Amino acid sequence: MTSIIPIIAVANQKGGVGKTAVTLGLASAASAAGLRTLVIDMDPQGNSTSGLGVVDTELNINDVLYADQTGVALDAVTPTLWPGVSVVPANLSLAQRDADQQLGAEMRLRKALDSPDLSARFDLVLIDCQPSVGKLVSNALIASTGVLIVTEPSIDASAGVANILNTIDTVREHYNPDLEVLGIVLNKVPPRSREADYRATELSDVLGDQLWEPVIPLRTVLAESRGARAPIHSYGSRATDLIAIFDAFLGRISSKG
Ligand SMILES: Nc1ncnc2c1ncn2[C@@H]1O[C@H](COP(=O)(O)OP(=O)(O)O)[C@@H](O)[C@H]1O
Ligand SMILES: [Mg+2]
Repeated sequence: MTSIIPIIAVANQKGGVGKTAVTLGLASAASAAGLRTLVIDMDPQGNSTSGLGVVDTELNINDVLYADQTGVALDAVTPTLWPGVSVVPANLSLAQRDADQQLGAEMRLRKALDSPDLSARFDLVLIDCQPSVGKLVSNALIASTGVLIVTEPSIDASAGVANILNTIDTVREHYNPDLEVLGIVLNKVPPRSREADYRATELSDVLGDQLWEPVIPLRTVLAESRGARAPIHSYGSRATDLIAIFDAFLGRISSKG
């Protein structure tokens, strides 16, 4: 499969760092920019699915992976409340797929996306990953053209990023040599915290220019938008800084095919 549109996995094995927030922030920017965007929810928690206002659907990502058929992901594409944004939804049933032991089980998402309809219908694909380094994350990384790592300024952030970078190296070596590490996004940065400054410096020492500028501040409006199932771009002047950040990030990823 050679993809002519960017397929971006948003990953880190740590939960609560903002993978879903970044996925939805990018989807919001893409929606505002008029891009046709597909979010693939690869987390059994289904937070992107619910964040996009989608509840019950006929088909979900568990059905897609279970079917193991070329191009079948397109059958599960569901419209959302956000203009131009569709989702392949997830719910708890997806957790079963982590136990799949068949040879090739980690290739199923790539196979499911292998359809000319994907680039005919969409300009951008975002894959929201589960917090682990398990089979679902391998599926996402193998299906992607690029991966964006999200982390927060905590004591174990550097070790966590090193861990996911290792997984990515393995995937590149054995399955997807073209997978590009787009960068590392530092999220939930509190205002004027010496501890956070210290962690951010520590991360930038280790990661250098892989760490994206600017960082994403800790902002209640971001959590609020999740609850309201609304794109951050609909918050206007209450979210000017966040909107500018996600627009800039979208510019960076959508130049990658
Ligand atoms: N920059 C931020 N400011 C404030 N709250 C945030 C921010 N990023 C994420 N959150 C909130 O933190 C929680 C965890 O974020 P989430 O995106 O779900 O993490 P993950 O997908 O990595 O598990 C959510 O309630 C989310 O709304
Ligand atoms: Mg999440």
